[in-house]
Amino acid sequence: MEKDILILAIESSCDETAAAVVKNGRTVLSNVISSQIALHTLYGGVVPEIASRKHIEKINQVVKEALKEAEVTLEDIDAIGVTYGPGLVGALLVGVAEAKAISYAAKKPLVGVHHIEGHVSANFIEHPDLEPPFLCLIVSGGHTHLVIVKDYGKYEIIGRTHDDAAGEAFDKVARAIGLGYPGGPKVDKLAKEGKKDAIAFPRANIADAPYDFSFSGVKSAVLNHLNYCEMKKEEIKKADIAASFQEAVVDALVTKTMAAAKDYKLKKVALAGGVASNSSLREAMGKACEKRGLKLYYPSPILCTDNAAMIGAAAYYEYLNGTRHGLDLNAVPNLKIGQR
Ligand code: KG4
Ligand code: ZN
Repeated sequence: MEKDILILAIESSCDETAAAVVKNGRTVLSNVISSQIALHTLYGGVVPEIASRKHIEKINQVVKEALKEAEVTLEDIDAIGVTYGPGLVGALLVGVAEAKAISYAAKKPLVGVHHIEGHVSANFIEHPDLEPPFLCLIVSGGHTHLVIVKDYGKYEIIGRTHDDAAGEAFDKVARAIGLGYPGGPKVDKLAKEGKKDAIAFPRANIADAPYDFSFSGVKSAVLNHLNYCEMKKEEIKKADIAASFQEAVVDALVTKTMAAAKDYKLKKVALAGGVASNSSLREAMGKACEKRGLKLYYPSPILCTDNAAMIGAAAYYEYLNGTRHGLDLNAVPNLKIGQR
C-alpha cells in the first residue's frame, strides 16, 4: 500500500478564515471555518480592512484546531496547501504568510492553490467516483465560469461572465429588496414562497459566445421593476421578485451548461462555488441532466462556500503534479485559472 499523503490547507481569500487536514485529496480529517459574516453584515458587504484584521486574529487558532481535530501533528503533514489568489490582497496575504511560516519552521513543501480550482476540487471530496474529464459550472461571489476539467489541475475555460458574477447578482438583488448580506441564501429561501413566473426578467444571450453569461441586465431589470412599483404605488412582492429573478439566473446557467455538455460531448457535469448550494439551481440542473443522461455532481453546502478542505483537495493533486512554491510565494489578487 502506498503511503497516505496528508495536506494541511489554509484559506483566507475573503471573509472566512479556514484550515483543514485532507488525506489523499478526498478524505477530510478536519475542516475548521471561522466565518466573519456576522461582522460584515453590519456594513452590508465585506470590508477588506476588517477582513484582513480578523484573519490575523484567528488564523493561528484555526490552524491549531484543524490539526487537533484531525488528531495529527505538523510532523505527520506532507505539504502545506494555501490559497494565494484570486481574492482580497490583504486577506490572502494572511493565509500565505501563515503557510510560509509553517512550511519554513516544519520544513514541509509549500503548494499554492488557485481559490477557484479549490471550489472545483470540492467535488472530489464527496464523490470518490468523480474523475476528469468533466464539465464544471463555477458560480461564486466573484466568478462565473464554465470550464472543462481535462485532468487534475488542467482546465480549459470555455465560458465566462461579461459583467457581474452570479453570486454578485444574488447579493445585489438581495440588497435592493432589503434582504441584507449575504444575499444568495436569503433569496433562495424567500423564492420558495414566490411565483417564479410572476415577472418576466430577461435572460441574456451573447452573440458568438454561446457559453458566456451576463447578469447585469437581469439585475437592472429588478431595479427597474422596483422603481416602477414605487412610482405606481404598487405593492412590491418580494417573494415573487426573488423567485422570478432566481429563475432567470438559473435558466441561463442551466441552458448554457447543457449546450456546452452537448457540444463538447461531456457526460459528467459538476457545480462549484457558493451559488452551487442554491436549491433551485441544483434541482433544475438535476432535471436537465437526467433528461439527457448526464451525471450531475455537487458538493454539500458547507463545501460549496469558502472552506479549506477544498483547498486541501486541490493542493493534493498539485502536489502529485509536482507543484512546489518557494518562500517568495506572494498573494496574487487576480490570479488566472491554470496559472502556476
Ligand atoms: O464561493 P463563495 O463562498 O465565495 C467566493 O469565492 O466568491 O460564494 C459566495 C457567494 C455569495 O455571493 C453568496 O450570496 C452566494 O455565493 N450563495 C448563494 C447561496 N449560498 C451562497 N447564492 C444563491 N443561493 C444560495 N443558496
Ligand atoms: Zn470562494
